[in-house]
Amino acid sequence: MEYIVEAHKKEYGEEPLLIVRAPGRVNLIGDHTDYNDGYVFPMAIEKYIWVAVSKRKDSYVRFYSIDHEDRKRINLQNLRYKKEDRWANYCKGVLNVFNNRGYKIGGINTTITGNIPEGAGLSSSAALEVATAFSLKNVFNLDISKVEMASYTQEAENKFVGVHCGIMDQFISILGKKGNAMFLDTRTLKYRYVPFNFKHVKILITNSNVPRGLVESEYNDRKRDCERCLEVLKEKKRGSALRDYDLSDLGDIMGMLPEVTRKKCIHVVEENQRVLKSEEAIKRGDLVMFGKLMNRSHESLRDLYEVSCPELDWLVKRAWETEGVYGSRMTGAGFGGCTVTLIEEKSIPVYEKRIQQYERIFGFTPEIYISEPTDGVEVVKN
Ligand code: GLA
Repeated sequence: MEYIVEAHKKEYGEEPLLIVRAPGRVNLIGDHTDYNDGYVFPMAIEKYIWVAVSKRKDSYVRFYSIDHEDRKRINLQNLRYKKEDRWANYCKGVLNVFNNRGYKIGGINTTITGNIPEGAGLSSSAALEVATAFSLKNVFNLDISKVEMASYTQEAENKFVGVHCGIMDQFISILGKKGNAMFLDTRTLKYRYVPFNFKHVKILITNSNVPRGLVESEYNDRKRDCERCLEVLKEKKRGSALRDYDLSDLGDIMGMLPEVTRKKCIHVVEENQRVLKSEEAIKRGDLVMFGKLMNRSHESLRDLYEVSCPELDWLVKRAWETEGVYGSRMTGAGFGGCTVTLIEEKSIPVYEKRIQQYERIFGFTPEIYISEPTDGVEVVKN
Protein backbone atom coordinates (compact mmCIF):
# COMPACT_ATOMS: atom_id res chain seq x y z
CA MET A 1 0.00 0.00 0.00
CA GLU A 2 2.88 2.35 0.84
CA TYR A 3 4.00 1.99 -2.73
CA ILE A 4 0.89 3.52 -4.29
CA VAL A 5 0.74 6.25 -1.60
CA GLU A 6 4.33 7.23 -2.34
CA ALA A 7 3.71 7.18 -6.11
CA HIS A 8 0.63 9.38 -5.66
CA LYS A 9 2.51 11.86 -3.46
CA LYS A 10 5.36 12.04 -5.92
CA GLU A 11 3.05 12.51 -8.90
CA TYR A 12 0.67 15.07 -7.43
CA GLY A 13 2.45 16.44 -4.35
CA GLU A 14 -0.44 15.44 -2.07
CA GLU A 15 -1.66 12.53 0.03
CA PRO A 16 -4.43 10.38 -1.46
CA LEU A 17 -7.80 10.84 0.21
CA LEU A 18 -8.46 7.14 -0.06
CA ILE A 19 -7.38 3.95 -1.79
CA VAL A 20 -9.87 1.59 -3.34
CA ARG A 21 -9.24 -2.03 -4.28
CA ALA A 22 -11.35 -4.04 -6.78
CA PRO A 23 -10.78 -7.73 -7.55
CA GLY A 24 -10.70 -9.63 -10.83
CA ARG A 25 -12.87 -12.70 -11.26
CA VAL A 26 -12.97 -16.22 -12.52
CA ASN A 27 -16.21 -17.74 -13.69
CA LEU A 28 -16.62 -21.27 -12.34
CA ILE A 29 -19.43 -22.11 -14.77
CA GLY A 30 -22.01 -20.33 -16.93
CA ASP A 31 -20.29 -18.62 -19.84
CA HIS A 32 -21.97 -16.56 -22.54
CA THR A 33 -25.19 -16.71 -20.60
CA ASP A 34 -25.10 -13.28 -18.94
CA TYR A 35 -26.02 -11.23 -22.02
CA ASN A 36 -28.87 -13.68 -22.52
CA ASP A 37 -30.55 -12.98 -19.17
CA GLY A 38 -29.14 -16.27 -17.91
CA TYR A 39 -27.35 -17.65 -14.86
CA VAL A 40 -23.68 -17.40 -13.93
CA PHE A 41 -21.53 -18.76 -11.11
CA PRO A 42 -18.40 -16.62 -10.68
CA MET A 43 -16.13 -15.74 -7.76
CA ALA A 44 -13.85 -12.78 -7.12
CA ILE A 45 -10.14 -13.69 -7.09
CA GLU A 46 -7.20 -12.52 -5.02
CA LYS A 47 -5.85 -10.32 -7.79
CA TYR A 48 -6.70 -6.66 -7.75
CA ILE A 49 -6.64 -3.15 -9.18
CA TRP A 50 -5.84 -0.41 -6.67
CA VAL A 51 -6.75 3.23 -7.25
CA ALA A 52 -5.51 6.08 -5.04
CA VAL A 53 -7.57 9.26 -5.32
CA SER A 54 -7.43 12.88 -4.21
CA LYS A 55 -9.72 15.77 -5.09
CA ARG A 56 -8.93 18.67 -7.42
CA LYS A 57 -10.48 22.10 -7.43
CA ASP A 58 -11.11 22.20 -11.18
CA SER A 59 -12.93 19.87 -13.58
CA TYR A 60 -9.90 17.92 -14.73
CA VAL A 61 -9.23 14.27 -14.07
CA ARG A 62 -5.70 12.99 -14.12
CA PHE A 63 -4.86 9.32 -14.41
CA TYR A 64 -1.44 7.97 -13.65
CA SER A 65 -0.89 4.28 -14.32
CA ILE A 66 2.18 3.06 -12.47
CA ASP A 67 2.25 -0.22 -14.41
CA HIS A 68 1.96 1.33 -17.87
CA GLU A 69 4.12 4.32 -16.89
CA ASP A 70 1.46 6.32 -18.63
CA ARG A 71 -0.42 9.52 -17.82
CA LYS A 72 -3.67 10.96 -19.14
CA ARG A 73 -5.44 14.20 -18.38
CA ILE A 74 -9.01 14.84 -19.41
CA ASN A 75 -11.70 17.42 -18.80
CA LEU A 76 -14.94 16.16 -17.28
CA GLN A 77 -16.78 18.43 -19.69
CA ASN A 78 -15.28 16.70 -22.68
CA LEU A 79 -15.32 12.94 -22.32
CA ARG A 80 -14.85 11.10 -25.59
CA TYR A 81 -13.68 7.61 -26.44
CA LYS A 82 -10.20 7.74 -27.93
CA LYS A 83 -8.54 4.57 -29.12
CA GLU A 84 -5.10 5.85 -28.15
CA ASP A 85 -6.24 6.32 -24.54
CA ARG A 86 -6.47 2.51 -24.24
CA TRP A 87 -6.86 1.58 -20.52
CA ALA A 88 -8.01 5.10 -19.58
CA ASN A 89 -11.16 4.65 -21.68
CA TYR A 90 -12.56 2.32 -19.02
CA CYS A 91 -12.18 5.07 -16.40
CA LYS A 92 -13.50 7.74 -18.76
CA GLY A 93 -16.51 5.57 -19.56
CA VAL A 94 -17.41 5.44 -15.87
CA LEU A 95 -17.01 9.22 -15.46
CA ASN A 96 -19.23 9.66 -18.49
CA VAL A 97 -22.02 7.46 -17.10
CA PHE A 98 -21.92 9.29 -13.75
CA ASN A 99 -22.07 12.64 -15.56
CA ASN A 100 -24.95 11.58 -17.78
CA ARG A 101 -26.89 10.31 -14.81
CA GLY A 102 -26.57 13.64 -13.09
CA TYR A 103 -24.24 12.71 -10.22
CA LYS A 104 -22.26 15.68 -8.95
CA ILE A 105 -18.64 14.82 -9.50
CA GLY A 106 -15.60 17.07 -9.73
CA GLY A 107 -11.96 16.79 -10.75
CA ILE A 108 -9.71 14.13 -9.21
CA ASN A 109 -6.13 12.95 -9.32
CA THR A 110 -5.76 9.19 -9.54
CA THR A 111 -2.90 6.73 -9.32
CA ILE A 112 -3.54 3.21 -10.54
CA THR A 113 -1.75 -0.10 -10.15
CA GLY A 114 -2.73 -3.75 -10.25
CA ASN A 115 -1.74 -7.39 -10.49
CA ILE A 116 -4.57 -8.81 -12.61
CA PRO A 117 -2.95 -10.01 -15.82
CA GLU A 118 -4.34 -7.96 -18.71
CA GLY A 119 -6.08 -9.59 -21.65
CA ALA A 120 -6.21 -12.88 -19.77
CA GLY A 121 -9.98 -13.03 -19.29
CA LEU A 122 -9.77 -12.32 -15.56
CA SER A 123 -11.64 -9.01 -15.88
CA SER A 124 -8.91 -6.48 -15.28
CA SER A 125 -10.98 -3.93 -17.21
CA ALA A 126 -14.12 -4.55 -15.16
CA ALA A 127 -12.01 -4.19 -11.99
CA LEU A 128 -10.67 -0.86 -13.26
CA GLU A 129 -14.19 0.36 -13.99
CA VAL A 130 -15.40 -0.80 -10.60
CA ALA A 131 -12.46 0.75 -8.74
CA THR A 132 -13.11 4.04 -10.56
CA ALA A 133 -16.83 3.99 -9.77
CA PHE A 134 -16.28 3.10 -6.12
CA SER A 135 -13.69 5.88 -5.79
CA LEU A 136 -16.19 8.42 -7.14
CA LYS A 137 -18.92 7.14 -4.85
CA ASN A 138 -16.70 7.54 -1.79
CA VAL A 139 -14.92 10.76 -2.69
CA PHE A 140 -18.15 12.58 -3.60
CA ASN A 141 -20.45 10.79 -1.15
CA LEU A 142 -22.79 9.59 -3.86
CA ASP A 143 -25.90 7.68 -2.99
CA ILE A 144 -25.47 4.63 -5.22
CA SER A 145 -26.22 1.04 -4.28
CA LYS A 146 -23.83 -1.74 -5.19
CA VAL A 147 -26.25 -3.25 -7.68
CA GLU A 148 -26.71 0.14 -9.36
CA MET A 149 -22.97 0.49 -9.53
CA ALA A 150 -22.76 -2.83 -11.35
CA SER A 151 -25.25 -1.56 -13.96
CA TYR A 152 -23.40 1.74 -14.38
CA THR A 153 -20.03 0.12 -14.88
CA GLN A 154 -21.51 -2.34 -17.38
CA GLU A 155 -23.10 0.62 -19.17
CA ALA A 156 -19.68 2.31 -19.35
CA GLU A 157 -18.27 -0.73 -21.11
CA ASN A 158 -21.29 -1.20 -23.40
CA LYS A 159 -21.83 2.38 -24.47
CA PHE A 160 -18.46 4.08 -24.11
CA VAL A 161 -15.96 1.32 -24.84
CA GLY A 162 -18.35 -0.47 -27.21
CA VAL A 163 -18.05 -4.03 -25.90
CA HIS A 164 -21.53 -5.44 -25.46
CA CYS A 165 -20.65 -7.52 -22.42
CA GLY A 166 -23.09 -8.78 -19.83
CA ILE A 167 -23.07 -7.73 -16.19
CA MET A 168 -21.23 -10.67 -14.62
CA ASP A 169 -17.71 -9.26 -14.38
CA GLN A 170 -18.64 -5.92 -12.86
CA PHE A 171 -21.22 -7.50 -10.56
CA ILE A 172 -18.84 -10.00 -8.99
CA SER A 173 -16.01 -7.47 -8.73
CA ILE A 174 -18.38 -5.34 -6.64
CA LEU A 175 -20.29 -7.98 -4.69
CA GLY A 176 -17.84 -10.86 -4.34
CA LYS A 177 -17.60 -12.45 -0.89
CA LYS A 178 -14.67 -14.17 0.77
CA GLY A 179 -15.07 -17.95 0.86
CA ASN A 180 -18.08 -17.88 -1.46
CA ALA A 181 -18.94 -18.27 -5.09
CA MET A 182 -21.99 -16.37 -6.33
CA PHE A 183 -25.05 -17.65 -8.10
CA LEU A 184 -26.38 -14.71 -10.08
CA ASP A 185 -29.54 -14.48 -12.11
CA THR A 186 -28.67 -11.79 -14.65
CA ARG A 187 -32.32 -11.17 -15.51
CA THR A 188 -33.48 -10.18 -12.02
CA LEU A 189 -30.03 -9.39 -10.57
CA LYS A 190 -30.96 -11.56 -7.61
CA TYR A 191 -27.93 -13.35 -6.25
CA ARG A 192 -27.03 -15.90 -3.62
CA TYR A 193 -23.69 -16.63 -2.01
CA VAL A 194 -22.66 -20.26 -2.10
CA PRO A 195 -19.89 -21.28 0.33
CA PHE A 196 -17.02 -22.62 -1.73
CA ASN A 197 -14.47 -23.91 0.66
CA PHE A 198 -13.35 -27.49 0.33
CA LYS A 199 -10.53 -28.94 2.32
CA HIS A 200 -7.52 -29.90 0.19
CA VAL A 201 -9.24 -28.79 -3.03
CA LYS A 202 -8.01 -25.76 -4.94
CA ILE A 203 -9.29 -23.52 -7.68
CA LEU A 204 -6.46 -23.38 -10.13
CA ILE A 205 -6.40 -20.88 -12.97
CA THR A 206 -4.12 -21.48 -15.94
CA ASN A 207 -3.39 -18.50 -18.17
CA SER A 208 -2.83 -19.68 -21.74
CA ASN A 209 -1.17 -16.34 -22.54
CA VAL A 210 -2.63 -16.53 -26.05
CA PRO A 211 -2.85 -12.99 -27.45
CA ARG A 212 -6.56 -12.25 -27.85
CA GLY A 213 -6.89 -10.26 -31.04
CA LEU A 214 -10.41 -11.02 -32.22
CA VAL A 215 -12.20 -11.35 -28.96
CA GLU A 216 -14.31 -8.18 -29.16
CA SER A 217 -15.68 -8.67 -32.65
CA GLU A 218 -16.25 -12.41 -32.14
CA TYR A 219 -17.97 -11.65 -28.85
CA ASN A 220 -20.33 -9.13 -30.42
CA ASP A 221 -21.02 -11.62 -33.27
CA ARG A 222 -22.04 -14.31 -30.79
CA LYS A 223 -24.38 -11.91 -29.10
CA ARG A 224 -26.02 -11.06 -32.42
CA ASP A 225 -26.43 -14.77 -33.22
CA CYS A 226 -28.30 -15.26 -29.95
CA GLU A 227 -30.54 -12.29 -30.71
CA ARG A 228 -31.37 -13.59 -34.18
CA CYS A 229 -32.23 -16.99 -32.84
CA LEU A 230 -34.41 -15.45 -30.15
CA GLU A 231 -36.37 -13.53 -32.77
CA VAL A 232 -37.16 -16.77 -34.57
CA LEU A 233 -38.13 -18.51 -31.34
CA LYS A 234 -40.42 -15.64 -30.38
CA GLU A 235 -42.44 -16.17 -33.54
CA LYS A 236 -43.26 -19.67 -32.33
CA LYS A 237 -43.74 -19.11 -28.63
CA ARG A 238 -43.81 -16.22 -26.18
CA GLY A 239 -40.64 -15.45 -24.27
CA SER A 240 -38.12 -12.67 -23.83
CA ALA A 241 -34.79 -14.47 -23.52
CA LEU A 242 -33.25 -17.81 -24.48
CA ARG A 243 -33.83 -19.14 -20.98
CA ASP A 244 -37.57 -19.06 -21.64
CA TYR A 245 -37.11 -21.85 -24.20
CA ASP A 246 -35.98 -25.45 -24.04
CA LEU A 247 -34.30 -27.92 -26.35
CA SER A 248 -37.56 -29.01 -27.91
CA ASP A 249 -38.32 -25.37 -28.85
CA LEU A 250 -34.90 -25.21 -30.47
CA GLY A 251 -35.72 -28.48 -32.26
CA ASP A 252 -38.86 -26.86 -33.67
CA ILE A 253 -36.92 -24.10 -35.42
CA MET A 254 -34.43 -26.41 -37.09
CA GLY A 255 -33.87 -25.28 -40.69
CA MET A 256 -35.23 -21.81 -39.98
CA LEU A 257 -31.81 -20.29 -39.45
CA PRO A 258 -28.22 -21.40 -40.05
CA GLU A 259 -27.29 -24.44 -38.02
CA VAL A 260 -24.21 -22.70 -36.55
CA THR A 261 -26.52 -20.06 -35.11
CA ARG A 262 -28.94 -22.59 -33.68
CA LYS A 263 -26.06 -24.51 -32.08
CA LYS A 264 -25.02 -21.38 -30.20
CA CYS A 265 -28.42 -21.21 -28.59
CA ILE A 266 -28.35 -24.88 -27.65
CA HIS A 267 -25.23 -23.99 -25.69
CA VAL A 268 -26.94 -21.14 -23.88
CA VAL A 269 -30.03 -23.16 -22.98
CA GLU A 270 -27.99 -26.10 -21.68
CA GLU A 271 -25.39 -23.95 -19.95
CA ASN A 272 -28.12 -22.28 -17.89
CA GLN A 273 -29.27 -25.72 -16.73
CA ARG A 274 -25.70 -26.64 -15.84
CA VAL A 275 -25.38 -23.55 -13.65
CA LEU A 276 -28.55 -24.46 -11.76
CA LYS A 277 -27.27 -28.02 -11.26
CA SER A 278 -23.86 -26.71 -10.22
CA GLU A 279 -25.26 -24.64 -7.42
CA GLU A 280 -27.10 -27.70 -6.12
CA ALA A 281 -24.01 -29.88 -6.44
CA ILE A 282 -21.82 -27.42 -4.55
CA LYS A 283 -24.41 -27.05 -1.80
CA ARG A 284 -24.39 -30.86 -1.42
CA GLY A 285 -20.59 -30.87 -1.48
CA ASP A 286 -20.74 -33.05 -4.60
CA LEU A 287 -17.53 -32.02 -6.32
CA VAL A 288 -17.61 -35.01 -8.65
CA MET A 289 -20.91 -33.85 -10.14
CA PHE A 290 -19.76 -30.23 -10.26
CA GLY A 291 -16.57 -31.30 -12.05
CA LYS A 292 -18.57 -33.20 -14.66
CA LEU A 293 -20.70 -30.13 -15.29
CA MET A 294 -17.55 -28.06 -15.75
CA ASN A 295 -16.28 -30.56 -18.31
CA ARG A 296 -19.58 -30.58 -20.24
CA SER A 297 -19.49 -26.79 -20.20
CA HIS A 298 -16.09 -26.80 -21.84
CA GLU A 299 -17.18 -29.23 -24.56
CA SER A 300 -20.17 -27.06 -25.27
CA LEU A 301 -18.16 -23.83 -25.46
CA ARG A 302 -15.75 -25.63 -27.77
CA ASP A 303 -18.17 -27.46 -30.06
CA LEU A 304 -21.41 -25.49 -29.98
CA TYR A 305 -20.52 -21.94 -29.04
CA GLU A 306 -17.12 -22.11 -30.78
CA VAL A 307 -15.21 -19.77 -28.50
CA SER A 308 -12.38 -22.06 -27.43
CA CYS A 309 -9.01 -22.43 -29.16
CA PRO A 310 -6.42 -25.23 -29.50
CA GLU A 311 -4.37 -23.93 -26.59
CA LEU A 312 -7.32 -23.91 -24.17
CA ASP A 313 -8.50 -27.31 -25.38
CA TRP A 314 -5.02 -28.72 -24.85
CA LEU A 315 -4.75 -27.35 -21.31
CA VAL A 316 -8.21 -28.63 -20.42
CA LYS A 317 -7.42 -32.11 -21.79
CA ARG A 318 -4.22 -32.33 -19.76
CA ALA A 319 -6.26 -31.44 -16.68
CA TRP A 320 -8.92 -34.04 -17.47
CA GLU A 321 -6.16 -36.65 -17.69
CA THR A 322 -4.76 -35.74 -14.28
CA GLU A 323 -5.84 -37.82 -11.33
CA GLY A 324 -7.25 -35.60 -8.60
CA VAL A 325 -8.89 -33.18 -11.04
CA TYR A 326 -12.66 -32.91 -10.60
CA GLY A 327 -13.25 -30.73 -13.62
CA SER A 328 -11.65 -28.22 -15.94
CA ARG A 329 -12.94 -25.74 -18.50
CA MET A 330 -12.14 -22.57 -20.36
CA THR A 331 -13.51 -19.58 -18.51
CA GLY A 332 -14.78 -16.17 -19.61
CA ALA A 333 -15.16 -14.97 -23.17
CA GLY A 334 -12.66 -17.41 -24.70
CA PHE A 335 -10.34 -17.16 -27.75
CA GLY A 336 -7.45 -17.41 -25.31
CA GLY A 337 -7.48 -16.34 -21.72
CA CYS A 338 -7.64 -18.88 -18.93
CA THR A 339 -8.86 -22.29 -17.92
CA VAL A 340 -10.26 -22.99 -14.46
CA THR A 341 -9.63 -26.33 -12.82
CA LEU A 342 -10.92 -27.84 -9.61
CA ILE A 343 -8.10 -29.97 -8.29
CA GLU A 344 -6.94 -31.86 -5.20
CA GLU A 345 -4.10 -29.86 -3.73
CA LYS A 346 -1.73 -32.82 -3.82
CA SER A 347 -2.26 -33.25 -7.57
CA ILE A 348 -1.09 -29.76 -8.49
CA PRO A 349 2.56 -30.79 -9.10
CA VAL A 350 1.33 -33.63 -11.36
CA TYR A 351 -0.75 -31.18 -13.40
CA GLU A 352 2.16 -28.74 -13.62
CA LYS A 353 4.31 -31.53 -14.99
CA ARG A 354 1.65 -32.52 -17.51
CA ILE A 355 1.49 -29.07 -19.03
CA GLN A 356 5.27 -28.70 -19.33
CA GLN A 357 5.16 -29.28 -23.07
CA TYR A 358 2.72 -26.41 -23.63
CA GLU A 359 5.35 -23.80 -24.33
CA ARG A 360 7.22 -26.00 -26.80
CA ILE A 361 4.01 -26.82 -28.71
CA PHE A 362 2.31 -23.43 -28.74
CA GLY A 363 5.08 -20.93 -28.11
CA PHE A 364 3.41 -19.20 -25.15
CA THR A 365 4.40 -19.54 -21.51
CA PRO A 366 1.49 -20.68 -19.34
CA GLU A 367 1.03 -19.21 -15.89
CA ILE A 368 -0.76 -20.75 -12.94
CA TYR A 369 -2.62 -18.84 -10.24
CA ILE A 370 -4.35 -20.33 -7.24
CA SER A 371 -7.05 -18.30 -5.57
CA GLU A 372 -9.65 -18.57 -2.87
CA PRO A 373 -12.89 -16.63 -3.43
CA THR A 374 -12.39 -13.11 -2.10
CA ASP A 375 -14.33 -9.95 -1.22
CA GLY A 376 -15.62 -7.43 -3.73
CA VAL A 377 -14.52 -3.80 -4.02
CA GLU A 378 -13.62 -1.97 -0.82
CA VAL A 379 -11.87 1.09 0.54
CA VAL A 380 -8.56 -0.18 1.87
CA LYS A 381 -7.27 3.14 3.20
CA ASN A 382 -9.13 6.24 4.24
C1 GLA B 1 -16.79 -11.61 -20.79
C2 GLA B 1 -17.92 -10.64 -20.54
C3 GLA B 1 -18.95 -11.22 -19.58
C4 GLA B 1 -19.38 -12.61 -20.04
C5 GLA B 1 -18.19 -13.49 -20.37
C6 GLA B 1 -18.59 -14.80 -20.99
O1 GLA B 1 -16.06 -11.80 -19.61
O2 GLA B 1 -17.43 -9.41 -20.02
O3 GLA B 1 -20.04 -10.35 -19.46
O4 GLA B 1 -20.25 -12.51 -21.14
O5 GLA B 1 -17.29 -12.85 -21.26
O6 GLA B 1 -19.34 -15.54 -20.10
